[in-house]
Amino acid sequence: MVNKKDSTKKSGGNKFLLQAPKGMHDILPSAWGWWEKVEKSVKELADFYSFAKIETPILEHAQLFEKGVGAETDIVEKEMYLLKTKGGDVLALRPECTAAVMRAYMEHRLGQQMQPRRLYYEGPMFRHENPQSGRYREFHQVGFEILGGQNDPLYDAQLILVFHELFKSLKIKNLRLHLNSIGCRICRPLYKKQLQNYYRDYEKDLCKNCERRLKTNILRLLDCKEEKCLELKKNAPNFLDKLCHGCTTHFKGVLEYLDELQITYVLDNQLVRGLDYYSRTVFEFILTDGSFGTLAGGGRYDYLAELLGGHQIPAVGCAMGMERVVETMRIQEIPPLSRPAKKVFLVHVGDMAKRKSFKFAHDLFEAGIPVREALGKESLKAQMKMANREGMKLALILGQKEIFEHNIIIRDLETGLQESVAMDKAVKEIKERLKGK
Ligand code: HAM
Repeated sequence: MVNKKDSTKKSGGNKFLLQAPKGMHDILPSAWGWWEKVEKSVKELADFYSFAKIETPILEHAQLFEKGVGAETDIVEKEMYLLKTKGGDVLALRPECTAAVMRAYMEHRLGQQMQPRRLYYEGPMFRHENPQSGRYREFHQVGFEILGGQNDPLYDAQLILVFHELFKSLKIKNLRLHLNSIGCRICRPLYKKQLQNYYRDYEKDLCKNCERRLKTNILRLLDCKEEKCLELKKNAPNFLDKLCHGCTTHFKGVLEYLDELQITYVLDNQLVRGLDYYSRTVFEFILTDGSFGTLAGGGRYDYLAELLGGHQIPAVGCAMGMERVVETMRIQEIPPLSRPAKKVFLVHVGDMAKRKSFKFAHDLFEAGIPVREALGKESLKAQMKMANREGMKLALILGQKEIFEHNIIIRDLETGLQESVAMDKAVKEIKERLKGK
């Protein structure tokens, strides 16, 4: 292994050459078993609940997020990676994907084909945050969105169900679903006024961030984690008491569906989420041990399409952080996806056999027999040692003599018995011998 000091020296003193940018990381081969396990469950659930895959560009017009996510949110105000193209467009590395999915839905009129439209995506997102455990500058999300159709609480519950099932299938423990409603255009302004009145008396006691948000984004005061703000939050007015009739009925509907499914939840009147496009239901799946905070978060965003210049489109969605999910699986000792073990080892002796083995390995691939080879090694002993160490069932041995006689040796590594078999019958014979192994 090369340590950081050495790597700087070897790259002529330029530490940037052999180091990923801060907050960004490689996903190494040793981690893929967990990533693939999550991806497999995601795909199974997407197929079962009829979500079709969508992939949007990693770069979008910065305005999409300014208008959609909100110019005064942390994500847009402080965390976006921006670049100017030669043509003068300002693009952003996507910090999230919901606004992009809505943009694609509207651009391609996806609602005309089917209502509602169920879509899912996976891919990298970028936020210039302070990296820490579970918080990166490049991270990956899997998201599910239901767009169009009716503003029906059934869809909020269905989305929650998909993530509930996903975490269940992955066997992730100690997760709690937090749920709130943040109202609509009718009741939210009234609630914000009440909140402002409440906090105005304590303006001097607020942290610097909240002092500013009091004027710009009052709801965010409810998710401040500063000690002195936490204390003040305890007596802040409760959103759920102030919801209008429509929002109360909608929220009750969501809870009834969840009760029907026996999905437990915590009503969390301080959950507001950090993005401006939400209305009514908001929710998060939070680890109870507090390790990475939130594994997934989402909610309803009925006004996002209007913010982007279209007409109102009811929508609800949720996204989870892959790195946090994978790290949680490792901490909770949930095994990765294991590849089916290979049972056949191809051993060659000499140059001519090496060439023939190269071709024969391909024949085995075409016949659907996974094979392990070590064509870079020359020694018969070393190859046999590898085959035994890796628990192979059969060794297929090709030497000079076998090539001249058009044969191959099949050696049973469990019994030690071996037999020379005609090359043109070898595939059939190997398949036969693998039965029951
Ligand atoms: P979000 O809460 O910003 O929501 O992100 C969703 C998830 O992405 C988080 O719960 C977390 O697991 C992961 N995540 C966020 N930031 C980071 C980071 N810096 N490092 C590692 N993981 C992170 C959204 O992005 C919304 N678009 C979700 C949504 C979909 N709402 C409706 N539809």
